[in-house]
Amino acid sequence: MDAFCGKGEYDDGGIGSPIETFNSIQSIISSNLYLTNPTKINHIVNDINKDNIENVRNYIDSHGGVSGWNYKAYNHDFEDFKTFLLDLVNSQSANSRTLIFLDPYGYKNIDKSTIVDLTKNGRTEIVLWLPIANMKRFIDKSKQSDEAAFLPLKHFLDAFFPNQLGEVYSKMDVFEFINKIKDKLKINNLYATSYYIERDSANFIVYSLLLLIILDMKKY
Ligand SMILES: C[S@@+](CC[C@H](N)C(=O)[O-])C[C@H]1O[C@@H](n2cnc3c(N)ncnc32)[C@H](O)[C@@H]1O
Repeated sequence: MDAFCGKGEYDDGGIGSPIETFNSIQSIISSNLYLTNPTKINHIVNDINKDNIENVRNYIDSHGGVSGWNYKAYNHDFEDFKTFLLDLVNSQSANSRTLIFLDPYGYKNIDKSTIVDLTKNGRTEIVLWLPIANMKRFIDKSKQSDEAAFLPLKHFLDAFFPNQLGEVYSKMDVFEFINKIKDKLKINNLYATSYYIERDSANFIVYSLLLLIILDMKKY
């Protein structure tokens, strides 16, 4: 389930998450392991931009198409898509598993309660990318300012650190910030871990955070 799937193939030929997933499913479906132990696979993508959804579909159609699994594409704002997503994960059978990939630009659409709700059933894992360096840079400003531009960060921080905003400040080490968010996600027996990518952009380094959240570690 790729909720912010993007355009699939980029102008420089690079491929994005829906195509990586398509390629993975194609190779899984044709593997011996799958042939002896088949399971139903649903690949669901969503993006607010209709052209992106069409690009992904065109790529898939011109690379063998969908054969042996289900593919569905949606063109919704994530805000409206959340309810559908919740219904979907909660209506699945007890032995099904869902992997949700959240790769938005920014963090405006990501709130802690959505993550909690989506993972409540114990069968959903979430991979979430956050632009951690940007967030960290504006922490202090967001705490002091009422400007609309800082509201998303303010909401994000309020949800993770209610009445404890003193815990986070812009000058703290980026890894400390990552660890603090990660710790706050260890709720309801959630297991959370983080990875980062480091991009050298002119004279500063941009870190991103990947949170992998798995419920009920006993099963793994
Ligand atoms: C960082 S890109 C995704 C990149 C993609 N995962 C990849 O690997 O190529 C974020 C995508 O989110 C989409 N998007 C932005 N706001 C959205 C929203 N409110 N709801 C759904 N999609 C949104 C954008 O159109 C964009 O394609």
